[in-house]
Amino acid sequence: MLAANADRICEAVSRLGSESAFEVLARARALEAKGKRVVHMEIGEPDFDTPQNIKEAGIKAIRENYSHYTPSAGIPELRDTIADYASTFRGMPGAFTRENVVVGPGAKPIIWNTLSALLNPGDELVYADPAYPAYASAASYLQAKVTPIPLLESKNFRLDLEELESKVSARTKVLVINTPHNPTGGVLLRSDLERIADLAQKHDFLVMSDEIYSRNLYVPEFLSIAQLPGMKDRTIIIDGFSKAYAMTGWRLGYALVPAALANVVTLFNNNTFSCVATFVQMAGIEALRGPDTDVVRMNETFRQRRDRLVGGLNQIPKLSCTVPEGAFYAFPNVSHFTKDDKALAKFLLEEAGVACLGGSAFGKAGTGYLRFSYAASFDDIDFALARLREYLPQYKG
Ligand SMILES: Cc1ncc(COP(=O)(O)O)c(C=O)c1O
Repeated sequence: MLAANADRICEAVSRLGSESAFEVLARARALEAKGKRVVHMEIGEPDFDTPQNIKEAGIKAIRENYSHYTPSAGIPELRDTIADYASTFRGMPGAFTRENVVVGPGAKPIIWNTLSALLNPGDELVYADPAYPAYASAASYLQAKVTPIPLLESKNFRLDLEELESKVSARTKVLVINTPHNPTGGVLLRSDLERIADLAQKHDFLVMSDEIYSRNLYVPEFLSIAQLPGMKDRTIIIDGFSKAYAMTGWRLGYALVPAALANVVTLFNNNTFSCVATFVQMAGIEALRGPDTDVVRMNETFRQRRDRLVGGLNQIPKLSCTVPEGAFYAFPNVSHFTKDDKALAKFLLEEAGVACLGGSAFGKAGTGYLRFSYAASFDDIDFALARLREYLPQYKG
């Protein structure tokens, strides 16, 4: 949390969280500038380049002067393309239309704008802990009550459903789920989603389902909670282009929401960024309509890297790591080495040249873990494993 400056900065700022990956990245770059080898396993982005056909579409759009403002919800053709893709990919033919789609510069601002459209002060947002920090940050800023529900390592980082059931009530306005999950790589099963859907209907809350890693999956089939009976109209799907298409820096994401909510999220877009860069939206159309081969190829490579990293981590004495079923993160348990995972992550960066994140950066339930992004080359993964084998036994935490 940032400290509010009594002089000028408003008090609400003290309620904002932040993504520590960006701070660690800056420190890692500073060490590199001094000539130290650092492997980057801190930031959650594919190391691949954006596929050629998507880049060409962006360049063509610039040449053809797609350089003017667009509607705040996005170019109609992109919204149609997203609606078609989302309906087909989730096996829900015709479920979504343009009216359900709101486009933003990344999924992150769309999460912010959607929660801003929903949460009154005092409303409850329930979320899985550890979590991507943006949900609790936005909800806290909006003065909502945030209730974390732990993910269980013993259940391969799926939700503690008993705990969830005991915590949700008529006061719960939104439950956030994220499958495949950042930072653990956990994937919710159909049975988990069915139980969550029952609770949502019983207590009349909405489910924000962050599905940005839906194409980074190592189990046979992706299932969205929106596919379950009665859930489409109470689900807010968050998705985007960053992870599946290696487009992190292009900034393009979206929400699929009931039409009335889409109008309000669009109003927040209108009041903040106005619209996403027009040629970026044109490239997004190509990403969804063009060949899918690069997405499949990148995912297969991530699977091989996962096996290399997790296999290697599990050979380190006193360290254990569940096998992630999606996303591109490994979340090993390092509680034998320390109680302070952030200090261990700092030691690994400064001394061993391995940039990773302390699990507690994602919430209290992340304490005692580290997060490694395996969107890194085999060479970097091998270097990291060798360094961990060498440096972890020396750590006096
Ligand atoms: C779970 C989750 N949701 C959303 C995002 C936001 O992605 P972007 O803003 O790049 O679309 C991320 C990025 O790390 C993420 O991990």
